[in-house]
Amino acid sequence: MVKLAHSLLLKLPPELAHNIGRWVLSCVQWVRFRMNPAPWEPPLVVVLPTPSPIRLRSRVGVAAGLDKNAQVFAGLACLGAAFVEVGTVTPLAQAGNPKPRLWRPGSGALVNHMGFNSVGLEGFRKNLHRYRSKVPGLAIFANIGKNRATANEDALGDYRKGFEALLGHVDGFVVNLSSPNTPSLVALQSEAFLTEIASVAPAQVPTWIKLSPDLDNSALEALCGFVRREKRIAGLVLTNTSREMAAEVFGFENGGLSGRPLFSRALECVSIARQALGPEKTLIGVGGIWNAASARQMREAGADLFEVYTGLVYQGPGFLKTLAEVP
Ligand SMILES: Cc1cc2nc3c(=O)[nH]c(=O)nc-3n(C[C@H](O)[C@H](O)[C@H](O)COP(=O)(O)O)c2cc1C
Repeated sequence: MVKLAHSLLLKLPPELAHNIGRWVLSCVQWVRFRMNPAPWEPPLVVVLPTPSPIRLRSRVGVAAGLDKNAQVFAGLACLGAAFVEVGTVTPLAQAGNPKPRLWRPGSGALVNHMGFNSVGLEGFRKNLHRYRSKVPGLAIFANIGKNRATANEDALGDYRKGFEALLGHVDGFVVNLSSPNTPSLVALQSEAFLTEIASVAPAQVPTWIKLSPDLDNSALEALCGFVRREKRIAGLVLTNTSREMAAEVFGFENGGLSGRPLFSRALECVSIARQALGPEKTLIGVGGIWNAASARQMREAGADLFEVYTGLVYQGPGFLKTLAEVP
Protein backbone atom coordinates (compact mmCIF):
# COMPACT_ATOMS: atom_id res chain seq x y z
CA MET A 1 0.00 0.00 0.00
CA VAL A 2 2.72 2.46 1.04
CA LYS A 3 4.77 1.62 -2.08
CA LEU A 4 1.74 2.11 -4.32
CA ALA A 5 0.84 5.45 -2.68
CA HIS A 6 4.46 6.60 -3.04
CA SER A 7 4.63 5.71 -6.74
CA LEU A 8 1.32 7.52 -7.35
CA LEU A 9 2.69 10.61 -5.57
CA LEU A 10 5.65 10.67 -7.95
CA LYS A 11 3.22 10.96 -10.87
CA LEU A 12 1.67 14.17 -9.54
CA PRO A 13 3.10 17.67 -10.14
CA PRO A 14 6.15 17.91 -7.81
CA GLU A 15 5.06 20.70 -5.45
CA LEU A 16 1.57 19.20 -5.09
CA ALA A 17 3.18 15.82 -4.31
CA HIS A 18 5.42 17.47 -1.68
CA ASN A 19 2.42 19.13 -0.07
CA ILE A 20 0.45 15.88 0.04
CA GLY A 21 3.51 14.08 1.47
CA ARG A 22 3.78 16.70 4.22
CA TRP A 23 0.07 16.42 4.97
CA VAL A 24 0.38 12.62 5.31
CA LEU A 25 3.35 13.12 7.66
CA SER A 26 1.36 15.55 9.80
CA CYS A 27 -1.40 12.89 10.04
CA VAL A 28 1.19 10.24 11.00
CA GLN A 29 2.53 12.37 13.84
CA TRP A 30 -0.97 13.35 15.02
CA VAL A 31 -2.12 9.71 15.16
CA ARG A 32 1.14 8.53 16.77
CA PHE A 33 0.96 11.00 19.65
CA ARG A 34 -2.85 10.76 20.00
CA MET A 35 -2.75 6.99 20.40
CA ASN A 36 0.38 6.97 22.51
CA PRO A 37 1.11 10.29 24.27
CA ALA A 38 4.45 8.96 25.61
CA PRO A 39 7.32 11.00 24.21
CA TRP A 40 9.47 9.54 21.47
CA GLU A 41 12.75 8.65 23.18
CA PRO A 42 14.92 6.15 21.31
CA PRO A 43 18.29 5.12 22.77
CA LEU A 44 20.81 7.86 21.95
CA VAL A 45 24.07 6.28 20.85
CA VAL A 46 25.97 8.94 18.87
CA VAL A 47 27.58 11.85 20.70
CA LEU A 48 28.40 14.98 18.72
CA PRO A 49 31.22 16.94 20.36
CA THR A 50 29.66 20.43 20.25
CA PRO A 51 29.56 23.17 23.00
CA SER A 52 27.08 21.11 24.98
CA PRO A 53 27.40 17.61 23.48
CA ILE A 54 24.41 16.53 21.38
CA ARG A 55 23.23 12.93 21.66
CA LEU A 56 21.59 11.30 18.65
CA ARG A 57 19.95 7.96 17.84
CA SER A 58 22.01 7.62 14.60
CA ARG A 59 23.86 9.78 12.09
CA VAL A 60 21.05 10.37 9.60
CA GLY A 61 18.98 13.53 9.40
CA VAL A 62 16.58 15.35 7.11
CA ALA A 63 18.02 18.32 5.20
CA ALA A 64 16.57 21.84 5.22
CA GLY A 65 13.63 22.64 2.99
CA LEU A 66 11.45 19.61 3.63
CA ASP A 67 10.05 20.97 6.89
CA LYS A 68 10.40 24.68 6.18
CA ASN A 69 7.80 25.71 8.75
CA ALA A 70 8.53 23.23 11.56
CA GLN A 71 5.28 21.32 11.06
CA VAL A 72 6.29 17.69 10.52
CA PHE A 73 9.60 17.10 12.32
CA ALA A 74 7.93 14.68 14.80
CA GLY A 75 6.60 12.63 11.86
CA LEU A 76 10.12 12.55 10.39
CA ALA A 77 11.42 11.31 13.76
CA CYS A 78 8.90 8.44 13.57
CA LEU A 79 10.26 7.58 10.09
CA GLY A 80 13.79 7.26 11.53
CA ALA A 81 15.43 10.72 11.48
CA ALA A 82 17.90 11.34 14.30
CA PHE A 83 17.85 15.07 13.57
CA VAL A 84 15.93 17.47 11.38
CA GLU A 85 17.10 20.77 9.96
CA VAL A 86 13.89 22.80 10.07
CA GLY A 87 13.65 25.88 7.84
CA THR A 88 14.93 27.85 6.10
CA VAL A 89 12.98 30.34 8.18
CA THR A 90 13.08 34.06 7.38
CA PRO A 91 12.33 36.80 9.97
CA LEU A 92 9.11 37.90 8.22
CA ALA A 93 6.66 35.65 6.42
CA GLN A 94 7.14 35.61 2.64
CA ALA A 95 5.56 33.67 -0.23
CA GLY A 96 8.70 32.63 -2.13
CA ASN A 97 9.08 32.64 -5.91
CA PRO A 98 6.13 32.26 -8.31
CA LYS A 99 5.03 28.71 -9.25
CA PRO A 100 5.99 26.44 -10.93
CA ARG A 101 9.19 26.31 -8.90
CA LEU A 102 9.94 22.62 -8.45
CA TRP A 103 10.76 20.12 -11.21
CA ARG A 104 11.81 16.47 -11.65
CA PRO A 105 14.20 16.62 -14.61
CA GLY A 106 15.09 12.89 -14.43
CA SER A 107 18.25 10.98 -13.33
CA GLY A 108 17.16 11.05 -9.67
CA ALA A 109 17.40 14.84 -9.51
CA LEU A 110 15.16 17.73 -8.46
CA VAL A 111 15.51 21.35 -9.49
CA ASN A 112 13.92 23.87 -7.14
CA HIS A 113 13.41 27.60 -7.31
CA MET A 114 11.37 27.92 -4.10
CA GLY A 115 12.95 31.16 -2.81
CA PHE A 116 12.45 30.72 0.96
CA ASN A 117 8.67 30.44 1.22
CA SER A 118 8.33 30.82 4.99
CA VAL A 119 5.75 31.53 7.69
CA GLY A 120 8.30 33.78 9.40
CA LEU A 121 9.90 33.44 12.84
CA GLU A 122 6.76 33.99 14.90
CA GLY A 123 4.64 31.33 13.20
CA PHE A 124 7.66 29.01 13.03
CA ARG A 125 8.21 29.18 16.80
CA LYS A 126 4.53 28.46 17.46
CA ASN A 127 4.68 25.42 15.16
CA LEU A 128 7.87 24.22 16.85
CA HIS A 129 6.20 24.24 20.28
CA ARG A 130 3.35 22.01 19.16
CA TYR A 131 5.51 18.86 18.98
CA ARG A 132 8.88 19.82 20.48
CA SER A 133 8.29 18.24 23.89
CA LYS A 134 6.96 15.03 22.32
CA VAL A 135 10.26 14.22 20.62
CA PRO A 136 13.05 14.77 23.18
CA GLY A 137 15.03 12.09 21.34
CA LEU A 138 15.19 14.20 18.16
CA ALA A 139 17.81 16.93 17.65
CA ILE A 140 16.37 19.99 15.94
CA PHE A 141 18.57 22.46 14.11
CA ALA A 142 17.05 25.70 12.84
CA ASN A 143 18.20 26.73 9.38
CA ILE A 144 17.97 30.53 9.29
CA GLY A 145 17.93 32.88 6.30
CA LYS A 146 17.23 36.45 5.30
CA ASN A 147 14.13 37.94 3.71
CA ARG A 148 14.33 38.56 -0.03
CA ALA A 149 13.66 42.28 0.52
CA THR A 150 16.58 42.64 2.94
CA ALA A 151 19.69 43.97 1.18
CA ASN A 152 22.93 42.07 1.73
CA GLU A 153 24.31 45.08 3.68
CA ASP A 154 21.53 44.55 6.25
CA ALA A 155 21.57 40.75 6.18
CA LEU A 156 23.32 40.37 9.53
CA GLY A 157 20.25 41.88 11.24
CA ASP A 158 18.03 39.16 9.77
CA TYR A 159 20.35 36.37 10.94
CA ARG A 160 20.57 37.97 14.38
CA LYS A 161 16.76 37.91 14.59
CA GLY A 162 16.80 34.20 13.76
CA PHE A 163 19.29 33.45 16.55
CA GLU A 164 17.42 35.59 19.09
CA ALA A 165 13.95 34.24 18.33
CA LEU A 166 14.95 30.58 18.40
CA LEU A 167 17.73 30.30 21.00
CA GLY A 168 16.46 28.03 23.76
CA HIS A 169 14.01 26.31 21.40
CA VAL A 170 16.43 24.36 19.18
CA ASP A 171 19.61 22.30 19.58
CA GLY A 172 21.65 24.26 17.06
CA PHE A 173 21.62 26.63 14.09
CA VAL A 174 22.54 26.41 10.44
CA VAL A 175 23.23 29.73 8.74
CA ASN A 176 22.15 29.39 5.13
CA LEU A 177 24.38 31.50 2.86
CA SER A 178 24.04 29.30 -0.18
CA SER A 179 20.53 29.11 -1.59
CA PRO A 180 20.74 30.05 -5.28
CA ASN A 181 17.10 31.21 -5.23
CA THR A 182 17.44 34.42 -3.20
CA PRO A 183 19.25 37.04 -5.31
CA SER A 184 22.90 37.64 -4.25
CA LEU A 185 22.63 35.49 -1.12
CA VAL A 186 25.65 33.44 -2.19
CA ALA A 187 27.78 36.62 -2.18
CA LEU A 188 27.61 36.41 1.63
CA GLN A 189 29.90 33.37 1.55
CA SER A 190 32.89 35.49 2.52
CA GLU A 191 35.28 35.65 5.42
CA ALA A 192 34.05 39.19 6.18
CA PHE A 193 30.44 38.05 6.59
CA LEU A 194 31.42 34.92 8.53
CA THR A 195 33.27 37.18 10.96
CA GLU A 196 30.04 39.11 11.50
CA ILE A 197 28.02 35.92 11.92
CA ALA A 198 30.53 34.66 14.48
CA SER A 199 30.09 37.89 16.45
CA VAL A 200 26.33 37.27 16.90
CA ALA A 201 26.19 33.45 17.03
CA PRO A 202 25.19 32.13 20.48
CA ALA A 203 27.75 30.39 22.67
CA GLN A 204 25.30 27.86 24.15
CA VAL A 205 24.55 25.78 21.05
CA PRO A 206 26.47 24.98 17.85
CA THR A 207 26.20 27.07 14.70
CA TRP A 208 27.07 25.56 11.33
CA ILE A 209 27.41 27.41 8.03
CA LYS A 210 25.81 25.93 4.92
CA LEU A 211 27.80 26.46 1.74
CA SER A 212 27.29 26.02 -1.99
CA PRO A 213 28.83 23.29 -4.16
CA ASP A 214 29.42 26.03 -6.78
CA LEU A 215 32.23 27.62 -4.74
CA ASP A 216 35.54 26.84 -6.34
CA ASN A 217 37.85 24.62 -4.32
CA SER A 218 40.25 27.37 -3.30
CA ALA A 219 37.39 29.57 -1.99
CA LEU A 220 36.03 26.58 -0.07
CA GLU A 221 39.45 25.89 1.44
CA ALA A 222 39.87 29.54 2.44
CA LEU A 223 36.47 29.58 4.20
CA CYS A 224 37.34 26.31 5.94
CA GLY A 225 40.58 27.87 7.17
CA PHE A 226 38.55 30.66 8.74
CA VAL A 227 36.02 28.28 10.32
CA ARG A 228 38.86 26.20 11.74
CA ARG A 229 40.12 29.23 13.67
CA GLU A 230 36.71 30.59 14.71
CA LYS A 231 35.45 29.26 18.05
CA ARG A 232 31.81 30.31 17.58
CA ILE A 233 31.36 28.27 14.41
CA ALA A 234 30.96 24.52 14.97
CA GLY A 235 31.58 23.50 11.37
CA LEU A 236 29.92 23.28 7.98
CA VAL A 237 26.93 21.79 6.21
CA LEU A 238 28.02 20.73 2.71
CA THR A 239 26.31 21.22 0.34
CA ASN A 240 23.30 23.19 -0.78
CA THR A 241 21.82 22.74 -4.28
CA SER A 242 23.92 23.58 -7.34
CA ARG A 243 22.88 26.48 -9.56
CA GLU A 244 25.66 25.65 -12.03
CA MET A 245 24.60 22.02 -12.45
CA ALA A 246 20.93 22.97 -12.91
CA ALA A 247 22.04 25.14 -15.83
CA GLU A 248 24.76 22.91 -17.28
CA VAL A 249 23.19 19.46 -16.87
CA PHE A 250 19.53 20.28 -17.50
CA GLY A 251 19.51 23.77 -19.07
CA PHE A 252 17.45 25.49 -16.34
CA GLU A 253 17.52 29.29 -16.31
CA ASN A 254 16.66 29.39 -12.60
CA GLY A 255 16.88 27.05 -9.65
CA GLY A 256 19.30 24.72 -7.92
CA LEU A 257 19.90 21.03 -8.58
CA SER A 258 19.75 18.36 -5.86
CA GLY A 259 19.78 14.57 -5.90
CA ARG A 260 21.92 11.92 -7.57
CA PRO A 261 23.91 14.08 -10.03
CA LEU A 262 25.06 16.25 -7.10
CA PHE A 263 26.62 13.42 -5.12
CA SER A 264 30.17 13.40 -6.48
CA ARG A 265 30.60 17.19 -6.06
CA ALA A 266 29.09 17.14 -2.55
CA LEU A 267 31.44 14.27 -1.64
CA GLU A 268 34.42 16.19 -3.01
CA CYS A 269 33.45 19.29 -0.97
CA VAL A 270 33.18 17.21 2.22
CA SER A 271 36.55 15.64 1.61
CA ILE A 272 38.25 19.01 0.90
CA ALA A 273 36.59 20.51 3.97
CA ARG A 274 37.63 17.67 6.27
CA GLN A 275 41.26 18.18 5.25
CA ALA A 276 41.09 21.94 5.68
CA LEU A 277 39.01 21.99 8.89
CA GLY A 278 41.03 19.48 10.85
CA PRO A 279 39.43 16.92 13.19
CA GLU A 280 37.88 19.32 15.73
CA LYS A 281 35.06 20.81 13.67
CA THR A 282 31.90 18.92 12.82
CA LEU A 283 30.81 18.35 9.24
CA ILE A 284 27.33 17.50 8.01
CA GLY A 285 27.38 15.92 4.54
CA VAL A 286 24.40 16.33 2.22
CA GLY A 287 23.81 16.09 -1.52
CA GLY A 288 22.71 13.14 -3.61
CA ILE A 289 22.84 10.43 -0.95
CA TRP A 290 20.90 7.64 -2.59
CA ASN A 291 21.54 4.49 -0.54
CA ALA A 292 23.51 3.14 2.42
CA ALA A 293 26.65 2.84 0.25
CA SER A 294 26.66 6.53 -0.66
CA ALA A 295 25.98 7.49 2.97
CA ARG A 296 28.97 5.37 3.96
CA GLN A 297 31.10 7.19 1.36
CA MET A 298 30.07 10.52 2.95
CA ARG A 299 31.20 9.20 6.32
CA GLU A 300 34.50 8.00 4.88
CA ALA A 301 35.07 11.40 3.26
CA GLY A 302 34.84 12.96 6.72
CA ALA A 303 31.19 13.74 7.48
CA ASP A 304 30.21 13.28 11.14
CA LEU A 305 26.51 13.29 10.22
CA PHE A 306 24.67 13.12 6.91
CA GLU A 307 21.32 14.38 5.66
CA VAL A 308 18.93 13.59 2.85
CA TYR A 309 16.13 15.32 1.00
CA THR A 310 15.85 14.27 -2.67
CA GLY A 311 16.72 10.63 -1.90
CA LEU A 312 13.84 10.53 0.58
CA VAL A 313 11.46 11.97 -2.02
CA TYR A 314 12.37 9.30 -4.59
CA GLN A 315 13.03 6.30 -2.33
CA GLY A 316 10.04 6.74 -0.04
CA PRO A 317 9.38 6.64 3.69
CA GLY A 318 11.52 3.56 4.48
CA PHE A 319 14.70 5.34 3.33
CA LEU A 320 15.67 6.93 6.67
CA LYS A 321 15.56 3.61 8.54
CA THR A 322 17.88 2.04 5.93
CA LEU A 323 20.39 4.86 6.39
CA ALA A 324 20.17 4.75 10.19
CA GLU A 325 22.14 1.48 10.03
CA VAL A 326 25.22 3.28 8.64
CA PRO A 327 27.77 3.50 11.49
C1 LIG B 1 12.50 21.53 -2.74
C2 LIG B 1 13.76 21.84 -1.99
C3 LIG B 1 13.78 22.89 -1.09
C4 LIG B 1 14.94 23.20 -0.40
N1 LIG B 1 14.93 24.22 0.51
C5 LIG B 1 16.04 24.50 1.23
C6 LIG B 1 16.02 25.50 2.22
O1 LIG B 1 14.99 26.14 2.48
N2 LIG B 1 17.18 25.77 2.87
C7 LIG B 1 18.35 25.07 2.63
O2 LIG B 1 19.36 25.34 3.28
N3 LIG B 1 18.37 24.09 1.71
C8 LIG B 1 17.26 23.79 1.02
N4 LIG B 1 17.29 22.78 0.10
C9 LIG B 1 18.55 22.06 -0.14
C10 LIG B 1 18.65 20.76 0.68
O3 LIG B 1 18.63 21.04 2.06
C11 LIG B 1 19.95 20.01 0.35
O4 LIG B 1 21.06 20.80 0.70
C12 LIG B 1 20.06 19.68 -1.15
O5 LIG B 1 18.79 19.33 -1.66
C13 LIG B 1 21.02 18.53 -1.41
O6 LIG B 1 20.59 17.35 -0.78
P1 LIG B 1 19.77 16.17 -1.53
O7 LIG B 1 20.49 15.87 -2.81
O8 LIG B 1 19.72 15.03 -0.57
O9 LIG B 1 18.41 16.73 -1.81
C14 LIG B 1 16.12 22.45 -0.62
C15 LIG B 1 16.10 21.39 -1.52
C16 LIG B 1 14.94 21.07 -2.20
C17 LIG B 1 14.95 19.91 -3.17
